[in-house]
Amino acid sequence: MSLRIAVLKERAPGERRVALSPETVRKYLALGAEVAVEHRAGLGAAVPDDDFAEAGATLGDAAATIAGADIVLGVQAPDLSLLAGAKPGAMVAAMFDPWRETERVAAYGAAGFEALAMEWMPRITRAQSMDVLSSQANLAGYKAVIAAADAYGRAFPMMMTAAGTVSAAKVFVMGVGVAGLQAIATARRLGAQVSATDVRSATREQILSLGAKPVFVENVAGIEGEGSGGYASEMSEEYQKAQAELVSAHIAKQDIVITTALIPGKPAPRLVSDAQIASMKPGSVIFDLAVAQGGNVEGAVSDEVIERHGVKIIGYANTATHLAADASALYARNLYNFLAAFWDKDQGRPVLDEEIGNAVRLTQGGAVVHERLRG
Ligand code: NAI
Repeated sequence: MSLRIAVLKERAPGERRVALSPETVRKYLALGAEVAVEHRAGLGAAVPDDDFAEAGATLGDAAATIAGADIVLGVQAPDLSLLAGAKPGAMVAAMFDPWRETERVAAYGAAGFEALAMEWMPRITRAQSMDVLSSQANLAGYKAVIAAADAYGRAFPMMMTAAGTVSAAKVFVMGVGVAGLQAIATARRLGAQVSATDVRSATREQILSLGAKPVFVENVAGIEGEGSGGYASEMSEEYQKAQAELVSAHIAKQDIVITTALIPGKPAPRLVSDAQIASMKPGSVIFDLAVAQGGNVEGAVSDEVIERHGVKIIGYANTATHLAADASALYARNLYNFLAAFWDKDQGRPVLDEEIGNAVRLTQGGAVVHERLRG
């Protein structure tokens, strides 16, 4: 009997993405699997049921979809109650938010499922095509600039018209990871004057190569800022003080600020204070991409436009979902790349290796098995 892959409609509020695309349905079939999808699962991402059916998937209600599933794919991990009927020990590959959703992870363990946290994909070369954080952050960085440009009561590019000159917007990007790089590129394409900062000194060259101006703390001990796996580490007090001074001087002259700074497993670092917001010109816009992780900007609230000192502060709880069609297509491909890389032809199923398996596997055999989660 062929392996059964099931995809449910996402149920988290505001979640429009789906973990499958017609393209990946065809690819899973080519591997010898069968694919079941819940009715209307793709609508938020502009994929009608017919497109999934044409690609070869079976459509049904949630219970029929999950029945006998060997592998369940999700964007956000489905509630355990939805998994009744899946095979014992089934794999569930989704984003689990493992640091915060500890109860859910424990429940998956107790229920005997193999929970695979896609956001814990290791940052190694061969896993790049499986990295959901990168595929989603790239789109989020783009969307942040578009949303900020929309909220800004002025234009981005310089325009010389018969009625006078419109000056170019000044955009400052704080945090130059995947999202920040795309934010810089997008703001440049729109004609803004762009500057950017990060704690990792390796980003200076990347900022320059995109035609933006690097703004960096100099002459402070420990400015490398690189923790494990290419992620940032928490910075010293001395560094934070120097960074705050540098940012204060710079931010007062900016029209748009895009913040993207995250530290894995920790609340987002606070980068912009209320006093710094007050120093900006009225009409300026700040987009806080880290708002769902605690926020880089004082006063930012998820999914609300806050106005402080005449400055608009925006941030979405889930930025990638605002580009659900592209985000889903890339996410679905990340999942396929992951499963296909480990496909064992004889067994007709994926068999994970140690390096990647141990990095993403949260639960198995009735217990929480991940070393980062075992207290
Ligand atoms: P992230 O989302 O964890 O953080 C965003 C950015 O904020 C990072 O550049 C970080 O250095 C910066 N940041 C943290 N604290 C800050 C502070 N106090 N002030 C200013 N900036 C601060 O990072 P992301 O986007 O996930 O990527 C980090 C790195 O990992 C990048 O160099 C990226 O190229 C690399 N990477 C490697 C992959 C692979 O080899 N498979 C896959 C994805 C990313």
